[in-house]
Amino acid sequence: MINLFQPQVGSEELEAVAGVFEDRWLGHGPRTKAFEAAFAEHLGVAPEHVVFINSATSGLFLAAEALDLQEGDEVVLPSLSFLAAANAILAHGGRPVFCDVDPRTLNATLEDIEAALTERTKAVVVLHYGGYPGDIVRIAERCRELGITLIEDAACSVASRVDGKAVGTFGDMAMWSFDAMKVLVTGDGGMIYVKDPEQAARVRRLAYHGLAQSSGFGYAKVSARWWELDIPEPGRRVIGNDMTAAIGSVQLRRLPEMVARRKEIVELYDRELASVDGLLTPGALPEGHESTYYFYWVQMEPGIRDQVAGDLLADDIYTTFRYAPLHKVPAYAPVDGPVPELAASDWASDRTLCLPLHPGLSDADVLTVVTSLRKSVERRSAEAREGSQAEDAR
Ligand SMILES: Cc1ncc(COP(=O)(O)O)c(C=O)c1O
Repeated sequence: MINLFQPQVGSEELEAVAGVFEDRWLGHGPRTKAFEAAFAEHLGVAPEHVVFINSATSGLFLAAEALDLQEGDEVVLPSLSFLAAANAILAHGGRPVFCDVDPRTLNATLEDIEAALTERTKAVVVLHYGGYPGDIVRIAERCRELGITLIEDAACSVASRVDGKAVGTFGDMAMWSFDAMKVLVTGDGGMIYVKDPEQAARVRRLAYHGLAQSSGFGYAKVSARWWELDIPEPGRRVIGNDMTAAIGSVQLRRLPEMVARRKEIVELYDRELASVDGLLTPGALPEGHESTYYFYWVQMEPGIRDQVAGDLLADDIYTTFRYAPLHKVPAYAPVDGPVPELAASDWASDRTLCLPLHPGLSDADVLTVVTSLRKSVERRSAEAREGSQAEDAR
């Protein structure tokens, strides 16, 4: 079986977890602080702006909560987004408004976003498809001009940059995912970044019950009644812990090596697939852009995409399409208007397939995927041509 994703964890991560066991401090503690500091340095921001949490989904919910949405407030996001972004907006009283994407990069452009803005737009959520930064520089500039909060769903973009600036630090808030399928994994985990210092402190509180000050040994030394509660506003409990943080710190050190191997695989796919008729590959990154290379995707005629996915599965190669268009999901349909027409999202959703991409793949594995894909595309394209000729002859 050649899987789509596979975490890269080994002896260094095991040793780090063993250290946590030896210290008998599993919860939020010094390793969490160290991971937050290292991640902040990786982003080029001060540690107070980042909070280690239990998932990027929690980050999306915290960010939506921090928006203080009022009835009728709209939040624009690409239809091809991870569903948790829409869930978070709805859960906090906002209206998700879906915009289109570039059909080839599957990233929303500034023009796509502008087409969906109204006077009720309170925020924009963009993701960086497959770790490709996309149009973030222009989008961030425009949101700043308009005074609209920009949230970057950087779940898949832990190593992505534009001209050296980390993706996720262009907007007002961002979150990264460290779930078991991501590039940097902690089992489950995530990081949230908040640019405004007061909002950052608020989000830190909201991530831990809403407490202004958690009780504990440190607090006991400065307070006579360290068990008393100070809750400026109620929150939830979505923090990370020292076990996952220990893994995260090792993974962060190994990140350059893991992304470098992903890049090699992408280049191998690009080279090998260039000659396959009827197949489009992601295309070159713009000057100054660095990707995390989370997805590698191909696009083909819509009539054959599902068959090709099935053929690869029969060859023990798992592929998928991310992200199913949210404007087609009834749960997210506008309550008082038509479902938006998003032609490029539809185009991409019918044609795109994400191929296996992770550092555990050998070159031989990649060539196995290429051979199976080439064979299937050629066969299914020929069948489709024959089918349409037979139609024409009738
Ligand atoms: C773009 C995007 N955002 C958010 C998430 C949620 O991440 P998590 O699994 O850490 O909650 C994912 C997970 O796949 C994702 O792909």
